[in-house]
Amino acid sequence: TAGVLVDRYGRVARDLRVSLTDKCNLRCTYCMPAEGLPWLAGPQLLSDEEIVRLVRVAVQQLGVTEVRFTGGEPLIRPGLVGIVSAVAALEPRPRISLTTNGIGLARLAPSLRDAGLDRVNVSLDTLDRARFTELTRRDRLADVLAGMAGAAEAGLTPVKVNSVLMRGVNDDEAPELLRFALDHGYELRFIEQMPLDAQHGWDRTTMVTADEILAALHREFTLTADPAERGAAPAETWLVDGGPARVGVIASVTRPFCGDCDRTRLTADGQVRACLFATEESDLRGALRDGADDAELAARWRTAMWGKRAGHGIDDPSFLQPVRPMSAIGG
Ligand code: GTP
Ligand code: 5AD
Ligand code: SF4
Repeated sequence: TAGVLVDRYGRVARDLRVSLTDKCNLRCTYCMPAEGLPWLAGPQLLSDEEIVRLVRVAVQQLGVTEVRFTGGEPLIRPGLVGIVSAVAALEPRPRISLTTNGIGLARLAPSLRDAGLDRVNVSLDTLDRARFTELTRRDRLADVLAGMAGAAEAGLTPVKVNSVLMRGVNDDEAPELLRFALDHGYELRFIEQMPLDAQHGWDRTTMVTADEILAALHREFTLTADPAERGAAPAETWLVDGGPARVGVIASVTRPFCGDCDRTRLTADGQVRACLFATEESDLRGALRDGADDAELAARWRTAMWGKRAGHGIDDPSFLQPVRPMSAIGG
């Protein structure tokens, strides 16, 4: 490789998260308004070939070993299966994962697996149909549950489940969600809500914290330290009732893990972001369309990462939410 993505604090980014679209077929209230958002226009989006080219540069020139596709909702990108198979054909082959809301996954799981997808993370905040419909503004709980089952059956394992708890909405459901995950062999992770919603409605005082989630789980389960190395994973994990099942908490706000971050991000319109909360982006799409060669694209990517800040700064009095919401950045 021609180098690695290292920042001025010595962190090395080996994990690339690629957003394939800013669109979504749900409208989770903590993410976007009912009417949706002004979506990126067609010409702004990287083509399938452009995405594969940039992933190839990351893998072959910059030492990236893990590629995760996100959105918006990545399953609604028509070229997804082809993108996965092109990335799986790269030498050296990166590990490939997908973060999805699960709608359509039951149908797509076998072809995604055959294309080279290794595993999936599926979002599920409630097991109650009426609540799901209220929370996501779409009556699709059954599709999500079928998607998880289809992924497990296709061997896209471990299937991880991501749950965001909101006070007064679903914060009473932590034990039930864990029971469900244990019953199905999924690995559940609770996520603290972050200030990344399109409506800028995040409020620290209503956010359900890791401590609260753990206290709720402790009433019904025994959680003990997980001997596995955490590495750069956002999730801190515990063994449930002695293991081997685990549960995780992604406590970005109350227990930040930025010091160990190994991520770099590419948006659906070809911008590199050094962090979810970065205020700056670096335009690779323009360079690529102007005819830049691989070495130049790699150099631009390295420069973008060198400028990565030490942490997200949510606790700073001067903190400002990024202009783009999470759905346009890629979780
Ligand atoms: P695994 O490799 O399976 O552990 O994936 P992951 O947890 O990194 O990815 P996933 O897409 O499932 O993300 C779960 C949650 O973690 C989402 O809310 C992400 O926004 C959040 N997350 C992922 N990467 C970062 C990060 O670098 N910083 C912060 N603060 N949150 C992140
Ligand atoms: N804070 C934390 N997690 C969020 N997600 C979406 N918006 C936010 C937010 N503001 C979650 C989704 C999905 C995962 C990729 O990120 O529910 O599970
Ligand atoms: Fe879509 Fe994810 Fe936002 Fe829900 S949280 S509306 S699944 S982008």
